[in-house]
Amino acid sequence: MSLQKAKIIVDKDFRVSEIDERIYGSFIEHLGRAVYGGVYEPDHPEADEHGFRKDVIELVKELNVPIVRYPGGNMVSAYNWEDGVGPKEDRPRRLELAWRTIETNEVGTNEFVDWAKLVNSQVMMAVNLGTRGIDEARNLIEYCNHPGGTYYSDLRRKHGYEKPHNIKTWCLGNEMDGPWQVGHKTAEEYGRLALETAKVMRLVDPTIELVTCGSSSAEMATFPQYDATALEHTYDAVDYISLHQYYGNRSNDTANYLAKSMDMENFIKTVISTCDYIKAKKRSKKTINLSFDEWNVWYHSNQQDRKIEPWSIAPPQLEDVYNFEDALLVGSMLMTFLRNSDRVKIACMAQLVNVIAPIMTENGGKAWKQTIFYPYAHVSAYGRGVALHTVSSSPKYDSKDFTDVPYIDSAAVYNEEKEEVTIFAVNRHLEEALELNADVRSFEGYEIVEHIVLENDDLKAVNTATEQNVQPHSNGVSTLRDGVVEAKLSKASWNVIRLGKRK
Ligand code: AHR
Repeated sequence: MSLQKAKIIVDKDFRVSEIDERIYGSFIEHLGRAVYGGVYEPDHPEADEHGFRKDVIELVKELNVPIVRYPGGNMVSAYNWEDGVGPKEDRPRRLELAWRTIETNEVGTNEFVDWAKLVNSQVMMAVNLGTRGIDEARNLIEYCNHPGGTYYSDLRRKHGYEKPHNIKTWCLGNEMDGPWQVGHKTAEEYGRLALETAKVMRLVDPTIELVTCGSSSAEMATFPQYDATALEHTYDAVDYISLHQYYGNRSNDTANYLAKSMDMENFIKTVISTCDYIKAKKRSKKTINLSFDEWNVWYHSNQQDRKIEPWSIAPPQLEDVYNFEDALLVGSMLMTFLRNSDRVKIACMAQLVNVIAPIMTENGGKAWKQTIFYPYAHVSAYGRGVALHTVSSSPKYDSKDFTDVPYIDSAAVYNEEKEEVTIFAVNRHLEEALELNADVRSFEGYEIVEHIVLENDDLKAVNTATEQNVQPHSNGVSTLRDGVVEAKLSKASWNVIRLGKRK
């Protein structure tokens, strides 16, 4: 029986953009066991002399994460950064209001900067615009980025950090449109505060980049007006606007679930239009880019989280155990960033360890890879270079919320330096394998290096600390003849077809 076919053209001249590697960013919040029991566990046999888990460091390095957002999230909106610096024995325990836990402050700004260095990442720092504002932000940036000779820069030196951290990218608050946020603000209130905070932060360090808050999801009733109003105020003072989005398969409708990356694509396009509308209104030459600084699947742990005792220390919150179909959607979300890489310059998978994360740990025990680890690792490894427009045609289907969903979702990246081309593809068909024909004639002398596949007969299969039920193999079936790749994409699969120049 011949397979249904999808076609794409992958041409080196059809360029979307040079990919900003920061789209492979992630996020660590002081939430649940992300920090305590995740990146930091001084009693763990794998802990280094600073208490950081070396097994976790190795897994983060495998993901090659260029930037990590910190310290929140909802948590930052009631956080006093001063609590987390200086001698550990003097640091206060606080009620952490966003997640209703106890924050011990054993880890703070300096420790996190140290950890980020160990995993070869930059820090993307958020300031508290919930309970605090301009004054706190100027003090924090002075502490982090000013060389010395002033109160806060000398305080950092006194704390053992002679050289400034030189943190380049800063978030002006978190999800300020959300009524759940401590210090929630209307768009007008937020826009004014964000502008004045941005102004002061740039006075301290003019080399920084700033992210203004957009909407906390496309479903917010105030979207996209909130974004437009925030930008009306901040347009000239910031570089990016943030987007956040999480998906789930609550109704167990996988065909519909796998199409949700189309919603993400739409969200991105709407935010781009909003930015460009304000650009036109302001007759500005400047273009605001997008920082998709929270994205992932999040729903598995919702019930469990309701049972957590308030005011505990590092409880297992938001510990989604991801299944195979989640990995497929995550693959499609990553491809959405590639296709929009002319405007999406930062994206942070939320989060990195234990909390809705690709990496899980047991307290005192193992660190292991969730299903979603794999598409993230693949795109981070092979998605560097130039994103290409793939002119594509695919058989389609309709689902509850979407029409004309292509069965094959794809993206292509050309790494000129390494002379490599990578085609990423998800087959959303749940019953049938499909054939992908990729016209790669502009890449003369290239051959197939590898066809990696993530597949599983059970859409709900999960990994655990002891069993990696879902893991990739390299036995994908692809041939390259007369400039055309013919690849068989198994039903419900994630594929990475790697081409390289024949040596
Ligand atoms: O990532 C978990 C939470 O999701 C973050 O704290 C918040 O910003 C978002 O609502």
